[in-house]
Amino acid sequence: MLGPPGSGKGTQARIISELYGVPVVTTGDMLRDAVARGTEHGRVAKGYMDRGELVPDRIVNMVVQERLSMPDLGAGFILDGFPRSTAQADALDRILKERGLRLDYVIHVTLGDEAIAARLGNRRSCPACGAVYHLESKPPKAAGVCDECGSGLILRDDDQPEVIRHRLEVYREKTRPLLERYEGAGIIREVPGDCPLDELPRLLRKILG
Ligand code: AP5
Repeated sequence: MLGPPGSGKGTQARIISELYGVPVVTTGDMLRDAVARGTEHGRVAKGYMDRGELVPDRIVNMVVQERLSMPDLGAGFILDGFPRSTAQADALDRILKERGLRLDYVIHVTLGDEAIAARLGNRRSCPACGAVYHLESKPPKAAGVCDECGSGLILRDDDQPEVIRHRLEVYREKTRPLLERYEGAGIIREVPGDCPLDELPRLLRKILG
């Protein structure tokens, strides 16, 4: 899943996961979990995440390599938020080659900056299970409480306006150029990030077959 912050990558990844029974590997959630547990990687990652910078490739590649070697991913997986730099894309190529796997699709989720800024201020996330809500388009059943696990919902630290602006710049500089890398392979599929939520399953099934 490739696209700017807040475009809806995580939301679409979860729908694809439900449609096809394929697990999602979300680097943002894995890093937030490492921060919450206070691991060595988490302590390093926290400052970068709070500022809206990319966590160093060395750490992210290590975390992803470890996760992708787990047995539950043998039949395939969805990568949400990885790769985000040339060095990460190189690492992914190496990992896939070692395992005899290939990328089937790169889903490019598109959304303009203004819509993103408006959207992220209304996002609420569950720090316990990773479920994501929106105060208008996908509100939780009880205000401030996760439908899935009953934990309290939060506004992420990096969803403050000045951090959102910086995340968008970082996306344009480091991540967006990856689209050129995958263009030649003919595997990019564009999905509008503002497609109505109830239409997404049909659209994604049409695109992915
Ligand atoms: P990460 O958690 O990956 O953040 P992100 O890429 O900025 O993406 P978001 O999670 O903010 O948004 P999303 O596109 O998934 O949108 P969502 O579905 O939630 O990364 C956070 C940080 O971790 C990074 O800044 C970096 O520091 C670090 N990091 C992570 N991966 C890294 C890597 N590979 N390398 C280095 N550092 C890394 O939707 C947003 C909102 O919109 C929600 O409220 C949702 O309900 C709503 N919504 C979604 N779709 C729709 C729709 N179709 N209609 C109406 N509302 C919708």
